[in-house]
Amino acid sequence: MGDLLKNKNILIMGVRNKWSIAWGIAKAAKEQGANLILTYLGEREKESLDKLIAGMDNVETCPCDVTSDENLDELFSNIKNKYGVIHGVVHAIAFAKSEDLQDTFVNTSRDGFHTAMDVSVYSLIAVAKRAKELMTEGGSIITLTYRGSEKVYPGYNIMGVAKAALEASVRYTAHELGAQNIRVNAISSGPVKTMSAKGVKNFSDILEIVEKKSFLRRNVTLEDLGGTAVYLLSDLSSGLTGEVLYIDAGYNNMGL
Ligand SMILES: NC(=O)c1ccc[n+]([C@@H]2O[C@H](COP(=O)([O-])OP(=O)(O)OC[C@H]3O[C@@H](n4cnc5c(N)ncnc54)[C@H](O)[C@@H]3O)[C@@H](O)[C@H]2O)c1
Repeated sequence: MGDLLKNKNILIMGVRNKWSIAWGIAKAAKEQGANLILTYLGEREKESLDKLIAGMDNVETCPCDVTSDENLDELFSNIKNKYGVIHGVVHAIAFAKSEDLQDTFVNTSRDGFHTAMDVSVYSLIAVAKRAKELMTEGGSIITLTYRGSEKVYPGYNIMGVAKAALEASVRYTAHELGAQNIRVNAISSGPVKTMSAKGVKNFSDILEIVEKKSFLRRNVTLEDLGGTAVYLLSDLSSGLTGEVLYIDAGYNNMGL
């Protein structure tokens, strides 16, 4: 336990289950004294979340589908009424249609393109727009990205394009919100076995290769990611914004 996030109200979006990256971040933030608001998508996720947070103080859950402006408005209006101010947001949300992760990239449908970009990219912009109104004491917004934004991972397909757009959105948002002392950064995580990751073709091969070749000869853990998120959410990273931080056991710097 520490107090790096004591008295900070942090919104965390994207806890599906105990394997979710967002759950690793939620646990680490809680250990540093944060008050947490966790969003869920649908009743199944709510049940899973309720079990995870049983017995925890100062944690509440709220529904939110990021494709709905009404849902987002309601979420932020509820947060405003209850907390008045928020200090951090973790955006750990992405989605692409399974056919677009299984078929060849050039077969991506127009509808699949829009869906992936809406859920995985526009949602960050829509969340930042509302969060900035409640970040009256400054703040930190984090999103999660993957190296498929820069290099080709066969099968990652439309998500690679979405992550490139997400990283550009981080820079534009960070530039605009910097004047309000709101920082915006992305964690580029190494592969982690989550529900979303299972949708990517060849994902277990990626895990195996990274374990063999990364500088640390292992894959990253939820604890690795949670620790970095605490750093980004806390005042320890007060001069850092608009960046993409690789938390991937060093893999991105390997040439071969
Ligand atoms: N797992 C990995 O290897 C890896 C690597 C790098 C980056 N990431 C990124 O990390 C983030 C979290 O993914 P994860 O791997 O923990 O998977 P996950 O499946 O545990 O979490 C994804 C979350 O996105 C939510 N979501 C999807 N559509 C939504 C919508 N319309 N409205 C609200 N929420 C919605 C899901 O409900 C779920 O909670 C994603 O952005 C993912 O791309 C994952």
